[in-house]
Amino acid sequence: MAEDKKPEAPAAAAPKPPPPPGPPAPPPPKNPGLVTAVVDGREVVVKPGTTVIEAAQGMGIDIPYYCWHKRLSVAANCRQCLVEMSNAPGGKLVPSCQVPLTEGVVVKTDTPRVKDQQRANLELLLLNHPVDCSICDQAGECKLQDYYMQFDAQPSRLDIPKNTKGKRIELGPTVTLDQERCILCTRCVRFMREVAKNPQLGVANRGTRSVITTFPGQPLDDRYAGNVVDLCPVGALTATDFRFRGRVWFMSSARSLCTGCARGCNVALDYLDTTAYRLRPRENADVNQEWMCDQGRTTYKALNAGRVLAARLGRGAAAARATRDEALKAAGLALAEARRAGGVAVLLSPVASLEDLLAACHVAKEGLGAAEVFVGGRPDGWQDDFLKKADENPNRKGLELAAQAYGLAVRPFADLVAAARAGRVGALWVVGAEVPDAAGAEALAALPVLVVQAVNEGPLAAAATALLPASPHAEGDGTFVNFEGRAQRFEAAWHPRGEARPHLALAGALGRALGLKVPWGTARETWLALSPRLAGVALWDFKWDSLPSVGRRKGHLPLAAGTVDGRLAGQKERLPPEGSEPAKRGVAPTSW
Ligand code: SF4
Ligand code: SF4
Ligand code: FES
Repeated sequence: MAEDKKPEAPAAAAPKPPPPPGPPAPPPPKNPGLVTAVVDGREVVVKPGTTVIEAAQGMGIDIPYYCWHKRLSVAANCRQCLVEMSNAPGGKLVPSCQVPLTEGVVVKTDTPRVKDQQRANLELLLLNHPVDCSICDQAGECKLQDYYMQFDAQPSRLDIPKNTKGKRIELGPTVTLDQERCILCTRCVRFMREVAKNPQLGVANRGTRSVITTFPGQPLDDRYAGNVVDLCPVGALTATDFRFRGRVWFMSSARSLCTGCARGCNVALDYLDTTAYRLRPRENADVNQEWMCDQGRTTYKALNAGRVLAARLGRGAAAARATRDEALKAAGLALAEARRAGGVAVLLSPVASLEDLLAACHVAKEGLGAAEVFVGGRPDGWQDDFLKKADENPNRKGLELAAQAYGLAVRPFADLVAAARAGRVGALWVVGAEVPDAAGAEALAALPVLVVQAVNEGPLAAAATALLPASPHAEGDGTFVNFEGRAQRFEAAWHPRGEARPHLALAGALGRALGLKVPWGTARETWLALSPRLAGVALWDFKWDSLPSVGRRKGHLPLAAGTVDGRLAGQKERLPPEGSEPAKRGVAPTSW
């Protein structure tokens, strides 16, 4: 009998070869929880996720870039920021705006290879560019121009006609596009999508035919569209309002605030002589990041047009030009008389500065014996959940604080109108003639004594019995308190135009006429003299002598010495040259 065959045990599997050695384990972090690397031979310690360009900027190393923007997503499409990195696959150059630093990595930003890439990339970007710098509105603040001079400075090697694209395309009410100058960095596209949340811009077509454009037949009419002009690193997107009105290197820039609403966006006020040309957002991470709305951009126009530049006495047919001193004297006498006769109502504007309003409240309380003040100002406008507030007055909070400092009740404009209509107001002193209701202003226009300090012509200025020319915020230093209670300083751009003087100076002169001692002349002196009354009021971390951030980030091209925002000095001197028109017009210091 055959023996049952036992099944054979399966042959032992051949031992697996050991896996090939992987990349070496990353070194343990030198600084636990942080990343330590070497950039251009210097050790740097950063938070995980910090990109190479951010780290370099923090070290003061200037890596050129176009498409990167710290408040937008990373596109890494311009290739201007490539650097050498020790861990780059195949030893390729890598975009420093996109790649985070890793432990132990060695970065080089200034090798001959990197420099050659920067030069070659510029040559590519400029290949079909019209290079019309001499007639381009961006000249003087164009990164293409700056980098060309820094890295390339070579004539074009193109010997065939350039690829041409659209010129002077009005994308909407505020922005004009020259497609030929666009380097397709997509900053504008990303801004509209990510910040404005209204994707009205996009890239159409492919390859060398690619252009920035709106959807067919649709305008770029978002209320924040103007920001794409500031974002565009070249002269492709320009502000229709500003185009060809002035060369930027002739202009000076003051650190100012937008007066368009209660947000108080930080702005650069660009001006030449005593004329404002444009507003640009200035960085303040707590208030407006680095954006502003298109309506706010237009507020500079009130600094130029419709100004009250001389005093007047009398209304209607009796109105006659007077010197400022004559008008102040007559106004002082009229107010003193009205006080004796039963009181003067006081109307304050939340467009005036905190210093102006402190001075006005001081005179109202101590000189006129007022127990209350009425609030004028502009009517409400639109609001959104980004920057714009419905209250289109920059300093309503400041007005309330100034009144509170003097124990004055704050009452609405409508109450003043009702009192005037009922014949209960004999005299009115107006500090800032903006009014929320034109019909109400008509009721005030009939008052027998109407002393008006006005920056711009308007219904109250037209009806004044004594009109005093007042300076806007561009013509003096001061403070606005925004809707959050954040006090922010603005600085004078130029000396007051014509006969105008700041409200605080006019109020001080009236106070003197009413027998008060006035211990202030300038805004700073007003603050020092009267701000102790604000004790207990929280104004965030406000210090009068420190302006908010200048708004230039590290890594931008270095600022020229002695200038506010890197411009050449140009017309920066605030005193007009001897013999010039402004000098003849009698431009004088703000304190007098
Ligand atoms: S228009 Fe300006 S911001 Fe927009 S993609 Fe072109 S270069 Fe960039
Ligand atoms: S949001 Fe207000 S403060 Fe800011 S720019 Fe617009 S109007 Fe001016
Ligand atoms: S800035 Fe890095 S690729 Fe454009």
